[in-house]
Amino acid sequence: MKHTKVKDLLSSTKTLNEVNAKGWVRTFRNNQFIALNDGSTINNIQCVVDFENTPEETLKRITTGAAVSVYGELVESKGAGQKYEIQVSRLEILGDSDAEKFPMQPKKHSLEFLRENAHLRVRTNAFGAIMRVRSVLAHAVHNYFQEKGFVYVNTPIITGSDAEGAGEMFKVTALPFDGTPRTEEGKVNYKEDFFGKETNLTVSGQLEAETYAMALGQVYTFGPTFRAENSNTSRHLAEFWMIEPEVAFNDLNDNMDLAEDFIQYVIKYTMDKCGDDLKFLEGRLVEEEKSKPQAERSEMTLLEKLNFVLENNFKRVSYTEAIDILRDCTPNKKKKFNYIINEWGADLQSEHERYLVEKHFKCPVILFDYPANIKAFYMRLNEDGKTVRAMDILFPGIGEIVGGSQREERYDVLVEKMKVLGIDEEELWWYLDTRRFGSAVHSGFGLGFERLVLFVTGMTNIRDVIPFPRTPQNAEF
Ligand code: 4AD
Ligand code: MG
Repeated sequence: MKHTKVKDLLSSTKTLNEVNAKGWVRTFRNNQFIALNDGSTINNIQCVVDFENTPEETLKRITTGAAVSVYGELVESKGAGQKYEIQVSRLEILGDSDAEKFPMQPKKHSLEFLRENAHLRVRTNAFGAIMRVRSVLAHAVHNYFQEKGFVYVNTPIITGSDAEGAGEMFKVTALPFDGTPRTEEGKVNYKEDFFGKETNLTVSGQLEAETYAMALGQVYTFGPTFRAENSNTSRHLAEFWMIEPEVAFNDLNDNMDLAEDFIQYVIKYTMDKCGDDLKFLEGRLVEEEKSKPQAERSEMTLLEKLNFVLENNFKRVSYTEAIDILRDCTPNKKKKFNYIINEWGADLQSEHERYLVEKHFKCPVILFDYPANIKAFYMRLNEDGKTVRAMDILFPGIGEIVGGSQREERYDVLVEKMKVLGIDEEELWWYLDTRRFGSAVHSGFGLGFERLVLFVTGMTNIRDVIPFPRTPQNAEF
């Protein structure tokens, strides 16, 4: 007999004579009631054990964390809180659990404690919900682009180029640390390395995606991305997942339209599919907010925040307008910001981004036309000669969730820019080829998948929305 998922049992439309459910015991009350969860839903199914006819030995082994298989009848529940329960006729212990040592006790654990037990935290309600939401969001991403005829491109994870030019890369090498081959000048001789050149883990698939957009028209990547930036913040991971659409003939406005429509679609899709999980996460957030001072509490619940994003256009504001707002705002004048905004040209920190979104506009914001010298080399230079066609999307509670731009499609302008920044033209010969052979206006953006999951789940630390986070000094599991 094949076992039935708890989710299907709970949504049954009728009682059933013989069912089998398998899962892990969440709690076992009064030597009689098992709350069984199998991960298919946040809800447990209640299994009523016939304790008079079950050997004492077996009853003792029904402990929190144990894997069990129960057979019995699906009957209408007499208790409150569930429509159906299983009247157990036979129970098998599939795997014991050391009840005393099992770290996931049915009580509230701190998020830090759960991070140290990332291999078991998914057995809690919150992490089960987060990971199901994450999975559905990933599906939504593919659905959106596939429905629109985009081609999914797998860009390389090992690459020779630094797409963002920020130098925050993890080296990939097969050279030995002892007796590393050296050139005559004493530098590491990468010619003797596995690839015969210096390589690293990718910081972005954009440059390769651009080459594909210049043939397939609309493409997207969705893959792991690596940054060796030493930022121990609640928004940064050393290994994260990024979605990067790239579209031929799109200008910056088309790019903004695409990003906004895309984000709204994936949120809506997930709200439609993950009702129970989001409801649970909303309740979790309400509890968490209670421990905060009144002034810091959110005015909206999780679902209200998600609906707000669906129902309101993102506010589009130029960098120059944003600087004017920031220069004159109270926290800047009262020197409450860590970085005081004095002049046009300043790079925006997350405190500024969050001020704009959370205090000033009170809605998602798209900032565009940034100063050229604080943005990457590939962005299209505006007629003013000092700003580029960049856009960042800023979200409440998150700050930057998307970074994108219209790309510099003019060969001469691009080469000049690379010269100024000291970017090796020979290394990027293939990228420059796209500007020599059939160059055209094109645009794209990168959305940090975990930052999206943060927003949708209402979690506040990025380490809690990826199964096994990689951050400075941490690569356990
Ligand atoms: O703004 P970024 O650096 O842009 C790019 O990499 C472009 N090549 C994208 C493109 O135009 N195709 O990164 C894009 C997004 C950020 O907005 C942020 O959401 C996320 O990636 N991100 C990170 N997420 C988690 N941890 C990190 N260390 C991140 N760095 C960037
Ligand atoms: Mg960025």
